[in-house]
Amino acid sequence: MGAALAAPALRNEPDYAYTASQQYDIVVSENSFKFDLIEPTPGKFTFADADRLVAFAHAHGQQVRGHTLVWVQQAPQWAKAIHNRDQLIAVMRNHIHAVVSHFKGRVAQWDVVNEAFTGYGTLSTDSFWQQTIGDDYLDLAFQFAHEADPDAKLFYNDFLAEGVNAKADGILAFVKGMRARGIPIDGVGFQGHIAVNPDLVSYAANMKRFNDAGFETAYTEVDVGLHLPASQAELQDQATTYAGMLNVCLQAPNCHTFVTWGFTDRHSWISSQIPGYGDALPFDVALNPKPAYWAMINRLT
Ligand code: XIL
Repeated sequence: MGAALAAPALRNEPDYAYTASQQYDIVVSENSFKFDLIEPTPGKFTFADADRLVAFAHAHGQQVRGHTLVWVQQAPQWAKAIHNRDQLIAVMRNHIHAVVSHFKGRVAQWDVVNEAFTGYGTLSTDSFWQQTIGDDYLDLAFQFAHEADPDAKLFYNDFLAEGVNAKADGILAFVKGMRARGIPIDGVGFQGHIAVNPDLVSYAANMKRFNDAGFETAYTEVDVGLHLPASQAELQDQATTYAGMLNVCLQAPNCHTFVTWGFTDRHSWISSQIPGYGDALPFDVALNPKPAYWAMINRLT
């Protein structure tokens, strides 16, 4: 069970850090591992916040998921400005080698590539990675990550692919192709930024087909945004949703990771993403457990 942590809160709010240390055994950094923050200028790495998170995890016996190495968002302008395939491959290789080897043995799982597909299940052409390198940028990214830490679990991660749909179809076909080409990919992460009452039958069917194809799966960024102010009934629906999604993971032999995108309503990206929505996480702003927390505890016990 994991949570994404925000670096400023981890630094400045002892109660936040304490709850994170007691309640979770996996942590992810919400932003500190992203390309623009970790390599703001070419070849100059700023590991301070990421190091602090990894040290925190180590001190509390927690695993770390590294998020993320290759993504179109939160990538630096200097990398986007490169329009030569060989040059951008060299930048990608250097970035992945530097970051993954810095954390070798201390980051258990990497989201190597994030959000590369369209809703139609095709590889997105809106990414500078795809435009400059071509469709093989995913293969290359996974190879570079594997070179730097052969023991880390390597994931492809995306949103709106939790259920059986065109996007998940495309991802499944693509990762099968990667395997067939000998590319080292261990699993697929489904982000899980969802609304209440999702189609859990479809989620379970999707899990099963990735499992049957030999992939690990994970829910990597779960949150369940509610229209504000949320009623007691909506908080109950949210609890049912969290427990149901956790249940899908627990029932799938290949799902070993359930991470929420934050853990307290004090710090969540939802309100900035969807104005008027929030209350998306299992702890309230004062760090009191919400119905969603108790529903997950019930399911776990
Ligand atoms: C979000 C963070 O939560 C925000 O703080 C940041 O401003 C933007 O990115 N999918 C992902 C995450 O894979 O990296 C995103 O995180 C949320 C959507």
